[in-house]
Amino acid sequence: MSAVMQEAAPKLTITKVKEHIGAIVTGVDLAKPIDAATRKQLYDAVVENVVLAIRGQAHLTPAQVQAAGELFGELMEDQNRRYLVDGFPMISVLDNFQKDSQGNQAKVGKNATWHTDHTNQERPPKFTMLYAVAVPDKGGATSVCNSRAAFEGLADDLKQKLVGMKTENTLISSARFKIANPDILRDQLESKNPPMVHPLVRTHPESGTKAIWFHKSKTERIIGMTPEETQEFLQQLTDMITQPQYCYAHQYQPGDLLIIDDRQSLHKAGHDFDQSQHRLLYRMLVRGERPV
Ligand SMILES: [Fe+2]
Repeated sequence: MSAVMQEAAPKLTITKVKEHIGAIVTGVDLAKPIDAATRKQLYDAVVENVVLAIRGQAHLTPAQVQAAGELFGELMEDQNRRYLVDGFPMISVLDNFQKDSQGNQAKVGKNATWHTDHTNQERPPKFTMLYAVAVPDKGGATSVCNSRAAFEGLADDLKQKLVGMKTENTLISSARFKIANPDILRDQLESKNPPMVHPLVRTHPESGTKAIWFHKSKTERIIGMTPEETQEFLQQLTDMITQPQYCYAHQYQPGDLLIIDDRQSLHKAGHDFDQSQHRLLYRMLVRGERPV
C-alpha cells in the first residue's frame, strides 16, 4: 500500500433546514470550474428549497463572485446605480456604513419590510444572490419566507380571491414617501413611467406552482382598492406568509453565498445588530420572466 494518502475531494452536500424552506450547501469551491451536473444540482436546490446558502466562499474575488452568480443565469443591473462594487457594474453593495446624498444612512434597516425585489420592472429578477463580505458578530440575518407554501395553506375561497388580483408597482409607493431614501424618492417623483401591473399570485415558470408575490413598499395599489386599503391588505397577507413554519432566517458567516428564488418568496433584511459593526453584502440579480 502506498504511504502517500490521496486527499479526498470535498463532497458536495445539500442539507435541508426545515420542511418548507432552506438548505445549506457545503463541499463546493466556487473559485473552481463547476460542471454542468453540479450547476443543475445547485439550481434545482434553489427552486426546491426557495433559499440556498452556499458556505465557505470567503476566498472569492469580485470577479469570481460574479462568475458564481452567472452559473444561475443572466445577471441584470440593480436599478439603484448608486452603490456598486468598483469595476463590477452587475454587483451592488448593501452596506450599513453607506450614506445617502444628505449624509444619512443610505439603507435604513429599521424601515425594511418584507418584499420581493424590483417588482416595478416588467421582468423582475428570478434570483437575488447575497454574498457576505463582512458580518456583525450577532444579528443582521436575511429572513426568507416561502410564499408558495403559505398560499397553498390558505382556505380555497381566499385563494380564489387572491388569484384574480393585480398590483400596480412603482419605484416607491406614496405610502412610503415620508420615510423614503431622498435619492430614491427623487427618482420616483421624476419618473414618467406608468405603474407596472403584475398578478398578486404568480405561477412559477419551472414548477407550475402558485405563490403570493408582492413588494408592499412598491405597491401603489391593488386594482380596485385605495392605496391605504392596499397597504393594510398586504400587511394582512404578510402576516400569513411570515408564520414561523414558512420562514428561515439565515445568519451569515463571511463567505456565504445566499440564493433566493424571488418568484416564490418574500425576504427581509435584519436590522437587529450593533450598528457600529460592519454588515457588507454584495448583491447580484438574475434576470427573470414576466410574472404570469
Ligand atoms: Fe430585497
